[in-house]
Amino acid sequence: MCGIIGYTGSENVKEILLDALELLEYRGYDSAGIAVRSRGMQQVSVYKCAGRVSDLREVCAQAGSGTERVPGSPGQNDGAFARTAGCGIGHTRWATHGGVSDANAHPHQVGAVTLVHNGIIENYRELIADYDLEGDLVSDTDTEVAAALLNRFYEGDPHEAIRKTVAKLRGTFALVVMFADQGDVIYTTRNVSPVVATLCDQGAMLASDLTALCRFTNRYFVVPEYHILELRSDAVRLTDFDGNEVEPEYLTADWELNSAGKNGYPFYMEKEIMEQPQAIADTIEERVLGGLPDFSADGVPDELFTDCERICIIACGTARHAGLVAQALVKSILHMHIEVEMASEFMYSDPVIDQKTLVLAVSQSGETIDTLEAVKYARRRGAKCLSVINVRGSSIARESDYVLYTNAGPEIAVASTKAYTTQLAVFYLIVARMALLRGVFTTEETQSYIRELQRTPDAIGEVLKKKRDIHVVAGKLLGAKDLFMVGRGLDYSILLEGSLKLKEVSYIHSEAYASGELKHGPIALITQDTPVVASVTQEKLMSKELSNIKEVRSRGADVVIFIKESIAGSLEEEYELIKLPDMRDEFMVMPASAALQLLAYYVSSDKGFDVDKPRNLAKVVTVE
Ligand code: AGP
Repeated sequence: MCGIIGYTGSENVKEILLDALELLEYRGYDSAGIAVRSRGMQQVSVYKCAGRVSDLREVCAQAGSGTERVPGSPGQNDGAFARTAGCGIGHTRWATHGGVSDANAHPHQVGAVTLVHNGIIENYRELIADYDLEGDLVSDTDTEVAAALLNRFYEGDPHEAIRKTVAKLRGTFALVVMFADQGDVIYTTRNVSPVVATLCDQGAMLASDLTALCRFTNRYFVVPEYHILELRSDAVRLTDFDGNEVEPEYLTADWELNSAGKNGYPFYMEKEIMEQPQAIADTIEERVLGGLPDFSADGVPDELFTDCERICIIACGTARHAGLVAQALVKSILHMHIEVEMASEFMYSDPVIDQKTLVLAVSQSGETIDTLEAVKYARRRGAKCLSVINVRGSSIARESDYVLYTNAGPEIAVASTKAYTTQLAVFYLIVARMALLRGVFTTEETQSYIRELQRTPDAIGEVLKKKRDIHVVAGKLLGAKDLFMVGRGLDYSILLEGSLKLKEVSYIHSEAYASGELKHGPIALITQDTPVVASVTQEKLMSKELSNIKEVRSRGADVVIFIKESIAGSLEEEYELIKLPDMRDEFMVMPASAALQLLAYYVSSDKGFDVDKPRNLAKVVTVE
């Protein structure tokens, strides 16, 4: 998963590309590069390097002064850098094929072709052999092979060369191309890997996702697979592979322009944690009519909820953890069969899927390929798919029968926070709707449930006011190498997500464990050097959870308990507590999750890490 940008227009190309790459850097950040052609100039100059976009800016600044040969570029260093109109493409990389190096950074330039790519060309070795491309290559990436093949096929007609090249590629790709003799025109084509585009006042733009476009416009279209889009400064032209012109299907993002900035926070993660009350309210309120959950504006029919006999949730990572909470709600309220499937395992686990199965796919980006392929598999088996997605028009949304969008706005930090709690908000609405339709809840019971859901933004707001107390607890975990998070039932589900947050931004080996299971082995790992974080929010489980906490305490562990305020009693005489605002047990997930997000955030930021871009990770996983 990489960040791709293309621009042609009257603005300063270099700045447009570099600014966009900074917004896209969350998609991958081990190297970066741009290729630009100033208006009226023949030459396409490439500037690239291992490192962050900030390093690339430095490279470009030196190149602009004409003083330094730019590392990793094929040698063009025109000095008269593009400070004016023209066109260009850019890329920020999450390495798949080929290590992190200047030479492996994109763009790749072979002959008349300069391109950037997001995806994986699975048959690149065969292509090198079949077309004797070895001599054209200077990097060890699959992308450069695509560039070399495209150059081999290029005889002056970009469409013909692109079609011939794509016909030979196996794998996933979003290719963005400049041809040496095609002036300020940029071409793109894709298979699975996402590309969105727009024509706006500043010119024509394309990118891996909306984040890079929403500075200029909230109108965009998704480039359909196996089509060719031409970007000119004053026009876009979309054609299918038979050469038929196709009208782009414009969408409107519900994001404010410039909402993808940090608004003064040090990291996107903190900003997005703080945005949760509003994001949850935005997700709930438009779906509550007369105090009852209502999906008519989303076009989701009631039959979807009344006709199904079982539910299958498919997701990855944090989205799957939201599914685990939904599973607990469905079992306890609807008494229905429900599985939560790890998308990457789903197709290989012989899942029992049929026409009576309602598949709920959950994805913030809507581009996670594991989830996308699992949805396609389930639908081929007759299941109806309702997806819970944050990015409109994304691949999973387009593959689903129905979509319920979370209104979280752009989530830039790799660690998902507001997407998770808005996914939960949608699940509470779904469960309430199903309970009403299936006669499990009366109208009054449903309204009472929805009123409690409508309290969750304020409950999270109460937690956010405790951020200093949580920061103090975080300070005690900075030196930990291993850490356990223990709880039962919903507390265990809460901690699975809290543990993933801590793992991915602080690199502490945190393990969430059902506290009743510890004594069956893992308690052997508890020493006085193993901090333990406990969650106690479920009144019916509290006594058992406290027994398990005593077990780890007696083996020397320091324990901090995130606990529902009304049941804390005199525990604060014995333990460090973070008290959480009271809600009905099943809604305690919301305040508890926000508290654990802050815990992870402060551990990471106090350790001096780049919280938004943890090592080895990327925001969108478009490789299987
Ligand atoms: C979340 O903190 C993680 N970065 C990751 O697990 C993420 O939830 C997962 O990759 C799924 O992404 P999606 O919601 O965009 O499908």
